[in-house]
Amino acid sequence: MAKRVVLAYSGGLDTSVAVRWMIEHLGVEVVCLSADVGQEGTLDGNREKALGAGAIAYEELDLRQEFADDFLAPLIKANALYEDQYPLVSALSRPLIAKKQVEVARKYGADGVAHGCTGKGNDQVRFEVSYMALAPDLEQLAPVRNWGFTREDSIEYAGRHGIPVGATKEKLYSIDDNLWGRAIECGEMEDPWAEPPDGVWKMTRPTATEPAQFTLSFEKGVPVALDGQAKPLFEIIIELNHLVGSYGWGRIDMVENRRVGIKSRETYEAPGALAVILAHRDLESLTVERDLGRQKIALQHKYAELVYDGLWYSPLRDALDAFIDVSQEHVTGDVRLRLEPNRCWVVGRRAPRSLYDYGLATYDAADRFRHADSEGFVRIWGLGVQTWSDVQGPGSQR
Ligand code: ARG
Repeated sequence: MAKRVVLAYSGGLDTSVAVRWMIEHLGVEVVCLSADVGQEGTLDGNREKALGAGAIAYEELDLRQEFADDFLAPLIKANALYEDQYPLVSALSRPLIAKKQVEVARKYGADGVAHGCTGKGNDQVRFEVSYMALAPDLEQLAPVRNWGFTREDSIEYAGRHGIPVGATKEKLYSIDDNLWGRAIECGEMEDPWAEPPDGVWKMTRPTATEPAQFTLSFEKGVPVALDGQAKPLFEIIIELNHLVGSYGWGRIDMVENRRVGIKSRETYEAPGALAVILAHRDLESLTVERDLGRQKIALQHKYAELVYDGLWYSPLRDALDAFIDVSQEHVTGDVRLRLEPNRCWVVGRRAPRSLYDYGLATYDAADRFRHADSEGFVRIWGLGVQTWSDVQGPGSQR
């Protein structure tokens, strides 16, 4: 049995109660780790809450830059959207937090790691599979999955043990957010037919009314500048969340397949993420050779699935990243996007190594395409279908 564990600590009711509960029922010492991955809520007060609940130590890490550079950048290059829609907001932060828990565990000589996820979701899978990949020697604890508390039980337990928790009034939604977007679950949305109430949206409140444009610049598939101003990726994403979100664009409403076999209605807002992927895909259309681009599209679903399913640390992702990195060699250039209320779309793109050839594409006098070559090309291209038609197909039935 573990003696000292590092808990991924959000500061919410569940993880605060988990600190005390693990001390009481498992006899362990608890070190709390809070991570800033760009979520909206502040971590202020987490230290007091963690220590107040009985933790022997508290660590706080600003992971925004590392999150953007090591987790969001590969995802952007891959254009990974789970089931074609979800930009993997929560799925990306878990492997990073798990990695930091392992580092903190080494620092404190801990022999276990713990998280506050329930048994029904994907996040338990992502935490634990990451622990298994990075530190198979550490014991894994999932108190929330085991204690069988209702929300009322947790509030009562916190009160009985003098655990300082924030607002304990009826919490309607389960929210997880970071730089890359925000997931909103539960409440009325558990009915897939019910429209999400307006109050659930935070990042995509439409306030802007005047049309606007912005230019996003990429280097080897990664955003490096906004409107000509070079800045770190995490700052570009924060700015885009505000800008694009102010047009009310970037909402997702879907029914998705969880790893544990449940179909779940999910609402997300990810204005920056969706705008970046939209722009990146567009730049690839200009700079990536056709067959390479098609093969990459075939792989991007696999990439999204493995990230969703908790396999960030896996040999398959390493291999896919190697392929994707090669594909991004010339994905350098600018994409211009236009914003209008509830809309965001690409209106222009350019690249130093663009494969767009004006002489081939134009219909005007500069045309250099050899039209006559097409005659023989098309005749041979269609030969198989022509033979089929003569013998077995529509032609033979006439
Ligand atoms: N369904 C999403 C996912 O599995 C979001 C999970 C969000 N977590 C939460 N506690 N609300 O990635």
